[in-house]
Amino acid sequence: MTVAKVTPADFLAMKKRGEKIPSLTAYDYPMTKLLDEAGVPLILVGDSLGMVVLGYPDTTHVTMAEMEHHVRAAARAKPRALLVADLPYRSYSSVETALDNSSRLVAAGAEAVKAEGGRNIIGQVRAIVDAGIPFLGHLGMLPQSVLEEGGYHIKGSKDAEREALLADARALEEAGAFGIVLELVTPPVAREISQSVSIPTIGIGSGPDCDGQILVTHDLIGTFPWFTPKFVKPRLNTAERIRATVTEWRNSL
Ligand code: KIV
Repeated sequence: MTVAKVTPADFLAMKKRGEKIPSLTAYDYPMTKLLDEAGVPLILVGDSLGMVVLGYPDTTHVTMAEMEHHVRAAARAKPRALLVADLPYRSYSSVETALDNSSRLVAAGAEAVKAEGGRNIIGQVRAIVDAGIPFLGHLGMLPQSVLEEGGYHIKGSKDAEREALLADARALEEAGAFGIVLELVTPPVAREISQSVSIPTIGIGSGPDCDGQILVTHDLIGTFPWFTPKFVKPRLNTAERIRATVTEWRNSL
């Protein structure tokens, strides 16, 4: 039996059916293949790459060349899942750079791109969508703004934040985004946004009422034990298993 390739339209259909959209990150060939074999329909080569693989303190250090390298590795797995890639820090400051860098990620094997922001990047979003590249939005806590904001803060508890989030979500929908990641948005506001737009919301630390959920895979499987976000309960302690297995092998020599 051949199983059809996942497209952005499938996520809209899943939202209409009330079917949750499970999404995870991968940065290389084996993890992309494993997640795909486990039936995850959306795989993100996220710029969380910077922390959980490359050892940077935050995502602002990730370059286009690093993203391209990891997108190429993930794309070699030829997943059935839609392979989405993050536009890294300052790679979409203008319409021209957004288009150029989105095309570079597509040339590396991405099937859609994601960038952080709403009305402030709407020209870029329209240009990317008009160029035929599916676009995934990202609202709420924006990790690429960590330096300006002085940390990672939950969004939506103030009225002005709630209104801005709703306006940004509607703008992204209107500009043709096929979905929106909501990161660290207060759960009632994440629910309100999910009910206000026809495109799916994919939550991370934003409560249970988004249309899908995304996690950094390293957090889910305990591969990066030195920091785990409060909202994640690892389902596997990979780091401990690695330490124990290597110690056992070392002692067996
Ligand atoms: O880079 C990333 O992994 C992300 C997810 C946290 C949504 O943007």
